[in-house]
Amino acid sequence: MRQAASTLDYRELARRRLPHFLFEYIDGGSYAEVTLRRNVDDLSAIALRQRVLCDVSTLDLTTSLFGRAVALPVALAPIGLAGMNARRGEVQAARAAEKAGIPFCLSTVSACPLPEVAAGTSAPFWFQLYMIRDRGFMAELLDLATAAGCDALVFTVDMPVPGSRYRDYRSGLAGASGMAGGLRRAWQAVQRPAWAWDVGLHGRPHQLGNVAPVLGKNSGLEDFFAWMRNNFDPKVSWSDLEFIRSRWSGPLIIKGILDPEDARAAAEAGADGIVVSNHGGRQLDGVPSTAQALPPIADAVGDKLTVLADGGVRTGLDVVRMLALGAKGVLLGRVWAYALAARGEAGVAHMLQLIEAEMRVAMALTGCTSIDKISRDALVETGYR
Ligand code: GLV
Repeated sequence: MRQAASTLDYRELARRRLPHFLFEYIDGGSYAEVTLRRNVDDLSAIALRQRVLCDVSTLDLTTSLFGRAVALPVALAPIGLAGMNARRGEVQAARAAEKAGIPFCLSTVSACPLPEVAAGTSAPFWFQLYMIRDRGFMAELLDLATAAGCDALVFTVDMPVPGSRYRDYRSGLAGASGMAGGLRRAWQAVQRPAWAWDVGLHGRPHQLGNVAPVLGKNSGLEDFFAWMRNNFDPKVSWSDLEFIRSRWSGPLIIKGILDPEDARAAAEAGADGIVVSNHGGRQLDGVPSTAQALPPIADAVGDKLTVLADGGVRTGLDVVRMLALGAKGVLLGRVWAYALAARGEAGVAHMLQLIEAEMRVAMALTGCTSIDKISRDALVETGYR
């Protein structure tokens, strides 16, 4: 296979292009990966309700998210280190998102820092933030996000402690310390010469994005992961939202909500949006899929804030399923990281075209001619409806 015909073909192209440890980092989940599989299986099992003879000659996929007009109800999810999948990768992905008319969300632990993405794009992008022990550093990041013109803040709350990803131990990304880890990764990199040339030699992969200033000189991936382990704040609680609010005046989206009670608390705390998410099955293995968690959450708070969702979304049909379950917008995660790895900006742009084309077919054949017409009526009567 040379060309991707579907978004999932990009997974296979990424597997062939990336050093093993990087592919495993994106592709994997925590522990036995039960939730990772559930996300995909539960969502794809939802039956769409075919309707016919309802004039679908004009389909409108536009909507607005947090005051911004968007061409599709999707955004590129924040993904740690995704920028290592291609040369200065987050800039490439953000450009593809900009051209497609959708928001890009930059991770705290990206490869490219905020000012670089701002300089490489002209549309505003979203910034994702973790609760970090050093509030001064958080404040600096929030100031950088404001200076970069970010138009929404995604505050991730489902990582007070990290879930263990066995694949990262097996691949040599985690666990193997110092020289041993470095040599294993270097060996994997030389077996992927196109990546080694593009990113390893010319992509400045050792400049670790937003956290470079606190990592110090000559830091490697071990230091980066150690920093994440030691600096994400397990004390994070609802009261910390006051700190965020005191430094951030734009839309605030809380990511990592899986329970209606937490969704209500987010609404009461004044959040503008939430992302129903289990971190792509990378945190607490065994929790429900987001397809299962979303409907009661949308019912509880859908009229109070903007409900977004992620997890298991691999196609445009899945986007329509999430919208039918009650989401107003959908974050695409692994699919953009795979496409970026395979073909850089052009890959992400093509992946988004595929998503749009699939959404058009799903909307036409469920008789939904615009985004606001997609409701649970677009699903066959099952437990989800
Ligand atoms: C970071 O957010 C990760 O899931 O690795």
